[in-house]
Amino acid sequence: MPIYQSVTFSTAELDELGEILTDKRSGYAYARIANPTDEVLAAAIAELHGAEDGFVFATGMAAIHATLLSVLRTGDRIVCTRAVYGSTRSLLANVLGGIGIRTDFVDATDLAATEAALASEPTRVLYVETISNPTIVVADLAALAELANRHGAIFIVDNTFASPYLCRPLALGADLVVESATKYIGGHSDVLAGVAVGSRERIARLRAVQTDTGATLAPFAAFLVLRGLTTLALRMERHAATATALATWLERQPGIDSVYHPGLPSHPQAAIARRQLRLGGGMGSIHTIVAHPPSTTHRQLSDEEIVAAGISPGLLRCSVGLEDLEDLQADFAQALAAAREAATTESRPAVTGAEPAQPAAAVRP
Ligand SMILES: Cc1ncc(COP(=O)(O)O)c(C=O)c1O
Repeated sequence: MPIYQSVTFSTAELDELGEILTDKRSGYAYARIANPTDEVLAAAIAELHGAEDGFVFATGMAAIHATLLSVLRTGDRIVCTRAVYGSTRSLLANVLGGIGIRTDFVDATDLAATEAALASEPTRVLYVETISNPTIVVADLAALAELANRHGAIFIVDNTFASPYLCRPLALGADLVVESATKYIGGHSDVLAGVAVGSRERIARLRAVQTDTGATLAPFAAFLVLRGLTTLALRMERHAATATALATWLERQPGIDSVYHPGLPSHPQAAIARRQLRLGGGMGSIHTIVAHPPSTTHRQLSDEEIVAAGISPGLLRCSVGLEDLEDLQADFAQALAAAREAATTESRPAVTGAEPAQPAAAVRP
């Protein structure tokens, strides 16, 4: 697909331009509204999701923002899983909260509690993540869709950590699916992008929000994401195989309290994961990245909100890339040994002249 690196598009007649701009005929007039490279990407992702239509955005957060604004008005209420990405929580609490849209957070793995929250007051949106960032909570999408439907709420699912290769939430009853294509779909840690898919009517509404809010995906970025899409299946198989093997190995390493991976029999929602996900996933990009959520991805949250999101201070998020399993095990083994050594040193009286030991949050001495 060519990169249509143009802001304006020409038409044979002025009337034609007017008709394109007023949606009376298809075509291109101004690249914030639509451009061909973005449209091909949106159609490809919509097809992977089995959706009628899709729309792409500059980032995953832009996709979530436009999707929520396309269905919410001041005075509306959202019920959201407490296991939600930090910026999404902040968007709900601070940005939407600031314009009179209230969010109540629930433990979405507790279906009775979720139903009670939905039943307690009129709810416009039920919002969950297929696999949550970073706590890897797996939401039972079919059961939650049924609850949302029963209580008249629009069911919106962030499928970033699954991608359409692992899970297609529309087939399980979701009304709208959002994804950060920055992760699996782009896949190479070199482009930011977001996507929303759903019915033609719902996508038309969020397209209208996007036209006036302007988080357009640049055509070169769309080209990079399209390149990523061609290897999505291959990468997902490899991410999942390596991540499952690494998680199984990590569970046996001294000093690790718990390992959360949807492919492990010890995962709290292992049965739902088996039913709902093609594979366990690996969460990321071509490169393995270890992050500390409280100081990075969830830094916008207060200490109380971090605890409420189910994140313990020693949680480390491992995004498993495409490297060889043996290399990763060797690297993790040396890192764990260093952390154990640091933790032991910390508990001993300080040696004169030594550097202060770093805290080894996830590792017991
Ligand atoms: C689950 C989830 N949703 C949304 C986003 C936001 O995506 P982006 O960084 O592309 O705006 C992220 C980013 O990490 C994420 O993990």
